[in-house]
Amino acid sequence: MHDPGCATALASDKDALARTLGAAFRGYPLTEWLVGSRPGGRQRRERYFGLLLDDALRRGVVLRDAESKAVAIWYPPGVWEIGVGDFLRTLPDWLRIVGVRALPGRLRALSELVKERPTAEGTATGRAWVLEVLGVDPDAQRTGRGSRLLEAGLARAREDGAGAFLLTSSEDAIPFYERHGFVVEKAFAVRGGPPMWTLCREP
Ligand SMILES: CC(C)(COP(=O)(O)OP(=O)(O)OC[C@H]1O[C@@H](n2cnc3c(N)ncnc32)[C@H](O)[C@@H]1OP(=O)(O)O)[C@@H](O)C(=O)NCCC(=O)NCCS
Repeated sequence: MHDPGCATALASDKDALARTLGAAFRGYPLTEWLVGSRPGGRQRRERYFGLLLDDALRRGVVLRDAESKAVAIWYPPGVWEIGVGDFLRTLPDWLRIVGVRALPGRLRALSELVKERPTAEGTATGRAWVLEVLGVDPDAQRTGRGSRLLEAGLARAREDGAGAFLLTSSEDAIPFYERHGFVVEKAFAVRGGPPMWTLCREP
């Protein structure tokens, strides 16, 4: 890793990173829509990010700052797709996160969302690393941590000759990504869910 303030996360970092993401994504439209308005939102957000981290710590690249106040989850091209068996093992967690009634609709919408991501061959601009999650604890936002993790992941993608891709439901975050070379590719909405944007960055 070129930036000393940025480390590759280990499985032992998972709980601290899930707490950071649970706090960072409070009010983030897609997460709120998934988790719903029932009590216990923070725990359900942490469980949700715990699931994402479980997978990413095995198959992706998880970067964190020195205090685990900032987290980035990346997947190299073609790696992010989850197998049916792996998904079924997480079903009890999904039930707790989303709730029984909402689960079928949310899973249908999530499967639509997944189709927006680039294949192993990439986007119109070529192969792309996928930035799955970037979050900074609210107490530590606007101190440069998000930018450092983003640039560290982009450096890895460049070393691999690839660009980058992300989906966001935060219109407010778009200028941040544009400052790091991303351009908005498409605006759309998942069924019953919030507005979303795809952004790409050339290698
Ligand atoms: C967006 C985010 C990752 C930026 O990380 P950060 O460490 O706070 O940002 P940096 O200090 O590196 O850069 C500052 C810039 O980030 C953006 N930013 C910071 N906080 C933000 C927030 N809450 N919402 C939107 N943009 C924000 C602004 O463009 C800011 O520039 P400014 O201070 O000139 O306005 C972080 O604020 C965050 O986790 N937000 C909540 C979760 C989220 O929206 N993640 C991105 C979803 S795809």
